[in-house]
Amino acid sequence: MVELKDGVRLYQYKGFWIPSPFLHPFIFNQPIFQLQDTDIVLSTFPKSGTTWLKALAFAIVNRSHYPLKHSPLLTNNSHQLVPCLERDLYAKIQSPPRLIMATHSPYGLLPVSILNCNCRIVYLCRNPLDQFVSHWHFRVRLREQTLLPVSLEEAFEMMCNGVQSFGPIWGHMLEYWRASIEQPEKILFLKYEDLKEDIKFYVKKLANFLGCPFSEEEESQEMIKEIAKLCSFDNMKSLEVNKKGKFSNGFKNDLFFRKGEVGDWKKHLTPSMAERFEKLLEEKLEESGLTF
Ligand code: A3P
Repeated sequence: MVELKDGVRLYQYKGFWIPSPFLHPFIFNQPIFQLQDTDIVLSTFPKSGTTWLKALAFAIVNRSHYPLKHSPLLTNNSHQLVPCLERDLYAKIQSPPRLIMATHSPYGLLPVSILNCNCRIVYLCRNPLDQFVSHWHFRVRLREQTLLPVSLEEAFEMMCNGVQSFGPIWGHMLEYWRASIEQPEKILFLKYEDLKEDIKFYVKKLANFLGCPFSEEEESQEMIKEIAKLCSFDNMKSLEVNKKGKFSNGFKNDLFFRKGEVGDWKKHLTPSMAERFEKLLEEKLEESGLTF
């Protein structure tokens, strides 16, 4: 166990550093309610675009129930619309019609009920240096009124040793990467940077993968473009609910919207830090075919 300066406790479990509030469900690998083949699991390493992926999947899957103009995404933070597997769902035995849930779980620690059914898994990862900088800012803002400032150098050292929530990040990404190669019909592996590059292509790809492709009519009505716009960083950040809203635990919704840029790490890390991590990552991902 390590206790970080901000009080977060990480426990090493089957090769991954799990934050204490999440440990119980992982250890007991509790059976959850019976999953339907149509259910969807969105999996991410923290700070890799979970908020975005939740919004995209919600908008795509529910587009026939909610016209985009009246989307619940306009008045709710996407975390309120897509529950977290470990925090919100284990405790409840339920089986809603088409459930979208999210998790930061490593692939190998997913409940067997997810692994053994035909539900789809979408995994989103991000350049680990941008993920690191994003997470560091998040922790600094969370602690604004409390404890000591988190040192970037110290956090970086821990990341290089794999000590971060749900880390090491390379292990987390590799497990999903390999599983997506073995079962491409079950697991879609996405990168934040690719979505930023061509979001319309990926909205379409997601809809196809989730079994709800856009009809010709929808395409001609520019539904793909509209979903991309609804879920865009600028739009989501500007919504009243995300500027002023709060979670029940007091977290402000705006914590989840910072810059939404690719390559922001260059403004925070020295070239030697980046070089050290990139070398390490190259070794860890060697021969996997996964690159950043
Ligand atoms: P930055 O801190 O680099 O800006 P998560 O949702 O997994 O917690 O990840 C948070 C990161 O995703 C933050 O990155 C945040 O700004 C960015 N983000 C949030 N909503 C986004 C969106 N709609 N499009 C792109 N990036 C988004």
